[in-house]
Amino acid sequence: SSRLPEGYSIRPLRRSDYNGGFLPTLKVLTTVGDISEEAFTTRYDFMATRNDTYYILVVCDENNTVVGTGAVVVERKFIHNLGMVGHIEDIAVAKNQQGKKLGLRIIQALDYVAEKVGCYKSILDCSEANEGFYVKCGFKRAGLEMAHYY
Ligand code: ACO
Repeated sequence: SSRLPEGYSIRPLRRSDYNGGFLPTLKVLTTVGDISEEAFTTRYDFMATRNDTYYILVVCDENNTVVGTGAVVVERKFIHNLGMVGHIEDIAVAKNQQGKKLGLRIIQALDYVAEKVGCYKSILDCSEANEGFYVKCGFKRAGLEMAHYY
């Protein structure tokens, strides 16, 4: 089936998600840091004024706790006839909720958004360890990530 488990839901991130499982869920991905409510809200509001560019989704369990998240950032180009590209970022499913297809559902929802807003493709960077997950989500290896840290 292409549905979430019974009682689970998927929705856009909200301002009120400072409280709850959103930031803890992101910790399975990387360092989140000690983010104040004010700092969270400032960043949330920045993104909300650009809601044709930042799409952040969360999956909630049956207790309405956020247990998964993912984002797509829509980039506007000049090339490809003013083409748009979806950049899939920050996919995370809480450790004790992995393996329930929540990650797959998040990617499917982000793909739907990206295609709907007019992106001709979506791309992402991942570790070799996650390649199999993204292949199951319909992605294929293309190119090589380069990074320059400051
Ligand atoms: N390697 C190979 N296959 C995998 C992997 C993996 N690492 N992870 C899941 N799969 C498979 C599953 O077995 C399943 O296959 P099936 O349909 O044959 O049963 C399919 O992929 C879908 O798996 P889900 O249950 O949807 O995966 P899950 O909900 O556990 O989410 C995720 C996967 C997001 C990678 C999760 O394990 C996680 O949060 N990991 C830690 C954070 C992380 O690495 N995030 C991705 C960073 S890359 C980025 O953000 C762009």
